[in-house]
Amino acid sequence: MKADRRLIVPLDVPSVDEARATVAALGDAVSFYKVGLELFATDGMTLAHELKRQGKQVFIDWKLHDIGTTVQRAAAVLAEQGCDFLTVHGEPQVMASAVRGRGASSLKILAVTVLTSLSDEDLPEIGYDSTVRALVERRVHQAIAAGCDGVISSPREASLARAIGGRDFLVVTPGVRPDWSAKNDQARAATPLDALKAGASHIVCGRPITAANDPHAAALRVAAEMAQAG
Ligand code: C5P
Repeated sequence: MKADRRLIVPLDVPSVDEARATVAALGDAVSFYKVGLELFATDGMTLAHELKRQGKQVFIDWKLHDIGTTVQRAAAVLAEQGCDFLTVHGEPQVMASAVRGRGASSLKILAVTVLTSLSDEDLPEIGYDSTVRALVERRVHQAIAAGCDGVISSPREASLARAIGGRDFLVVTPGVRPDWSAKNDQARAATPLDALKAGASHIVCGRPITAANDPHAAALRVAAEMAQAG
């Protein structure tokens, strides 16, 4: 069985060597990796280049949030280096700047609508007079208006994002747990199949694969489940 290109495995480790070991163990079972803030703090771009040389796709999950000029320049540099997905915070100015920065490249800009660590109670505290769901909906519309290619969404809001964004919109969902794995700290997890059925175009699934006794077999098991979605 070949890797499912909709499956993204996060490399949530503090060193490039540990990330390399994970990638080697997963071999041809995984073709898409997420490089997050932890590796950013060490040598994430070296790893990103290595992954690209191996023919893998690379999702840079650095959730950019800065003045427009800075976001635009950072997106331009990442686009030039052949990265595939980049996250930015879902504010209109930030999103539009990232889209300008990636220009005509193939880098896809994904908006983080509302961090899933935030609840309805947290929003007034940071100045938003809104529920989480209403803010997600608003920001999906704004992401489309800004020219973003998609959003990061919990499985819970994936169907909303898909309904607004339409068929080709990217909806990337973390918080995915197969029935057979531990939930860890993902309180509102969905299975890979349910996330795809809810409208996800890609799923991010980490520890059920990377912490398994046999990560390669676990990745194939997740891919087999995803195949049921068609
Ligand atoms: O190991 P696990 O599958 O929980 O990893 C999920 C990945 O997705 C981590 O890199 C985590 O930071 C990220 N993520 C998440 N929930 C969000 C946004 C990102 O779990 N709401």
